[in-house]
Amino acid sequence: MEKQLHHYLQSHHQAHLEQLFTWLRIPSISADPAYHAHCAAAADFLVGHLKRIGFATVHKLPTTAHDVVYAEWLGAPDKPTILLYGHYDVQPPDPLEQWQSPPFEPEIRQGFIHGRGTCDDKGQVMMMLNALEAWHAVTGSFPVNIRCYFEGDEESGLAGVHAVAKYKELLTSDAVLVCDTAWVDDNRPSLFYGMRGIAFVELAVRGAKQDLHSGLYGGLVYNPINVLTEVLAKLRAPDGAVAIPGFYDDVAPISAQELAAMREVDYDAASLRERLGVAALFPTRQGLPHKAMQCAQPTMDLCGIIGGYTGEGAKTVIASTARAKVSFRLVPNQDCQKIFDAFEAFVATHMPAGVTWTLSGHHGAGAYLTPFENPYLQAAARVMTETFGAKCVLARDGGAIPILMAFQEAIGAPAVLCGMGLPEDAIHSPFEKFSVTQYQRGSEFIARLLAAFAERPRN
Ligand code: BES
Ligand code: MN
Ligand code: MN
Repeated sequence: MEKQLHHYLQSHHQAHLEQLFTWLRIPSISADPAYHAHCAAAADFLVGHLKRIGFATVHKLPTTAHDVVYAEWLGAPDKPTILLYGHYDVQPPDPLEQWQSPPFEPEIRQGFIHGRGTCDDKGQVMMMLNALEAWHAVTGSFPVNIRCYFEGDEESGLAGVHAVAKYKELLTSDAVLVCDTAWVDDNRPSLFYGMRGIAFVELAVRGAKQDLHSGLYGGLVYNPINVLTEVLAKLRAPDGAVAIPGFYDDVAPISAQELAAMREVDYDAASLRERLGVAALFPTRQGLPHKAMQCAQPTMDLCGIIGGYTGEGAKTVIASTARAKVSFRLVPNQDCQKIFDAFEAFVATHMPAGVTWTLSGHHGAGAYLTPFENPYLQAAARVMTETFGAKCVLARDGGAIPILMAFQEAIGAPAVLCGMGLPEDAIHSPFEKFSVTQYQRGSEFIARLLAAFAERPRN
């Protein structure tokens, strides 16, 4: 069987690239309403593709934003049910001028497919579908029951997450399989059992009714940009910690076993500095390795700051408003709402009376952790080590896949995160790419993983 699957995937490699390219050409940017129709087209492509590869039941499930593409095949009653999760939406391609080839005209250069969505996440969803296609072509069925939940809002909102509760009955499964992560380095196959959560919020500060001459009014009024940056600067304690009272209260301690594992897969500081082009890394605290700072400690980062005159040359103006986009990455046991509340109290404490301020656009999701001993996770680790001929790293990641906690709450199924990205794939940036080899080997890995899952008893 393994040989036949391998042969099928080898001989269909070119076709699998072409299918992926067709999908990649659809600019399904969920954040921008102007691309709504393209998102629908990307969903329709998926519907058609799922039908082509052997699913008789495929639906688009409405959400408050873009449809979820749902498919099921439940033809193996004595086998476990695996929920495949992925997203068909992509990040905006900006800044456009930095792309070497247009973001939605995928192109292979030096072994990598370049373009928006190649790695995050269309290429990785397609790996799973290639594996299913191979199974169906070779055996006429799938080795386990399959449900698919492919959403179109992962990159920009929580519509797909909120829809989980609504469609709960359709999602009952024994494990959730996600290909939307990256290896810790090019030669170390990596499987993740935890992701950080996120709390995102926008802070706006308003001063005078209108912009003012900075010579005539400087010294008379509070400048919203000054105020905003002064308050934001107070968020950081001298040692790099987040200075919001209570911010670390609920942070789950790291077990000695996990800490040892994190040290083992820790970043090599020098090569990380070189890869990123930075002279120094952010200081670690409490003697933790960088890896622990990245996946088991919460952080605060400003993701955007807007205000005043930003065109060419000088304009002496005190702008009437300033805004900042603030992101917190959360770890297990931290609660999004509690973090929003603590941030609000912090801002209230530090804002001077001469401005007004508002918080808006809150969204967030808790961190996720699969129990280390989970049999699906351990089976995936084994198959990964065998498939790639190198010992698989079992680690936590710093990024977020907001839906994992919702799946956990709705269906209680553990998530197995086995993406095939590589550290230099530059997802979300103008250099996004995905290795052709990873695409091909990833498809083969998933095909083998499904066979291993079929050996597991149902939960
Ligand atoms: N696939 C990424 C998350 C990821 C990538 C995790 C690589 C680990 C390794 C996902 O699409 C993503 O970008 N998530 C966002 C969530 C946010 C928009 C709510 C993130 O982490 O910023
Ligand atoms: Mn993703
Ligand atoms: Mn992403």
